[in-house]
Amino acid sequence: MLGRINHIAIAVPDIALAARVYAETLGARVSPPQALPEHGVTVVFVELPNTKVELLEPLGEASPIKAFLEKAPGGGMHHICYEVDDILAARDLLTGKGARVLGNGEPKTGAHGKPVLFLHPKDFMGTLIELEQV
Ligand code: CO
Repeated sequence: MLGRINHIAIAVPDIALAARVYAETLGARVSPPQALPEHGVTVVFVELPNTKVELLEPLGEASPIKAFLEKAPGGGMHHICYEVDDILAARDLLTGKGARVLGNGEPKTGAHGKPVLFLHPKDFMGTLIELEQV
């Protein structure tokens, strides 16, 4: 069911600093910061040969990563996004096996304009999983 890793998301308290670390210390190619108010984050894309890393800074009071950064103020890995061909089929298969989908269970339009779902981290060894239909 799972395809390639679409991205790994890292929550950061200071996106300018994080982008500098990736660009200057790690030597990666980074995008300019992009504000995504409808998703409650500012994102910097780190382009890698085989996937990308997304640095996420909270944007606004209702940011979905605000609580995460309260627990991990220095930042940390927030989620891993796997590609699937058919997100509804994937959801039905997973919920049939007892996995929990966050929210109302219906796909939302993600930061890349594609349908996404998030799976409960307690069902997957403490890792929040995003599924993206590609
Ligand atoms: Co994501």
